[in-house]
Amino acid sequence: MNVIDALHARSTVRAYKQDPVGKDTILKILKAATRAPSWANTQPWEIFVAGGEALERLRTEYTLRSQKRVPSNPDLPAPQTWPPVIRQRMAELMSERTRLIRADRERDEATIRQSVFESNYRFFGAPTVVFLCLDRNLSSWSLFDMGLLAQSVMLAAQEYQVDSAPAFLFASYPDLVRAELDIPEDLSILIGLALGYADTNHPQNRYRSARRPIQDVVHCKGL
Ligand SMILES: Cc1cc2nc3c(=O)[nH]c(=O)nc-3n(C[C@H](O)[C@H](O)[C@H](O)COP(=O)(O)O)c2cc1C
Repeated sequence: MNVIDALHARSTVRAYKQDPVGKDTILKILKAATRAPSWANTQPWEIFVAGGEALERLRTEYTLRSQKRVPSNPDLPAPQTWPPVIRQRMAELMSERTRLIRADRERDEATIRQSVFESNYRFFGAPTVVFLCLDRNLSSWSLFDMGLLAQSVMLAAQEYQVDSAPAFLFASYPDLVRAELDIPEDLSILIGLALGYADTNHPQNRYRSARRPIQDVVHCKGL
């Protein structure tokens, strides 16, 4: 698959078949992805992969916490406020996803909201979750490197017909992930990437997110 095709083919997949992704494939994806550039080749990433029983335990524990309404406590907290134009784009995403859930089964707003959290806390049923971690002492520039790594993982996965989802909600309870995967305290658990094979019949996977028109985004002069 060429890069342009991979960029267009990747989308956030929020429901997976149970079929596992082989360890060999996971390692090939991650090896290719770590060709991502980083500030002065610092390669600040540490990557922890959960599958099998380890991931099942996390799924169970996350779900229990969600049912008990335990507040999340991510190492990298979500922003409390967003500029209006950004809020608008987030609202569009939520309303589209809500519409799909409602079409699947008639439910009220609060139940839908809870089910969005629960599906995140079940890691969308994916057979593998890759947690990307970063030394707590590193700066936003290293965070930039982590973004490059994350997209590289998801694009490399496309080569092997492996679908993906990046989710900050996967890192909602870092204490659980840290204990299960033996992640040292000096690393922040930034984000999880689900890897697996899309359940193409699932309504959540019918949604394809839009993009702003390119002429609104790119500002050229002299070409
Ligand atoms: C840093 C980051 C965090 C995200 N966290 C979540 C999440 O917690 N749950 C979720 O369902 N999607 C999450 N997403 C997926 C975005 O909603 C998705 O990338 C966006 O809507 C564009 O859709 P696409 O990936 O299908 O192109 C996240 C994406 C990024 C880049």
